[in-house]
Amino acid sequence: MKIAIASDHGGYELRKLVASYLQDNGHEVVDHGCYSHDSVDYPDFAKLVCDEVGSGSCEAGILICGTGIGMSIAANRHRNIRAALCHEAFTARMSREHNNANVLCLGERVIGSEVALDAVRVWVNTEFAGGRHQKRLDKLS
Ligand code: RB5
Repeated sequence: MKIAIASDHGGYELRKLVASYLQDNGHEVVDHGCYSHDSVDYPDFAKLVCDEVGSGSCEAGILICGTGIGMSIAANRHRNIRAALCHEAFTARMSREHNNANVLCLGERVIGSEVALDAVRVWVNTEFAGGRHQKRLDKLS
C-alpha cells in the first residue's frame, strides 16, 4: 500500500518508528515530516497528508501528534477524508471495517510504541466491510 505519513513535533519519534515499520513490511511510504523536534503547527502537516489521500496519489494516510486530537480535527476538515483517532488495535480495526477510515491518527503522548505499531498493523490489514456501513458513509458526503 502507498501510505502518506506526517507528524508535528509531538509525534516526531512515533512517526519515525511507524514509517520504518511500514517500510519493513513492504509498504511504500511518502514521509512529509516534520523533520525535527522544533515546534510546528499540526494543521500544516495534516494538509500535506490529506492532499495525498484526497487526490488519490496515496491510498491511506497516517497522522501523529501529541494526542492525535489536533490531527484528527484538522484532517476531518478536508474533503473525502475520514480520519479516525485510534488508541489500540480494536478501534483501528473498527475504523476500517465500519467507517472505511482513510486516515489513521495516533497520539504519541497517549499510547506506547508497541500498542501504536499493533494498531497500525491491524489498520493497514483490515478491509472495509461495506454493506450497511456504506449507506451510512453516503450520508456523510
Ligand atoms: C503539541 O504540543 C500538541 O498540542 C500537539 O502535538 C497535539 O497534541 C495537538 O492536538
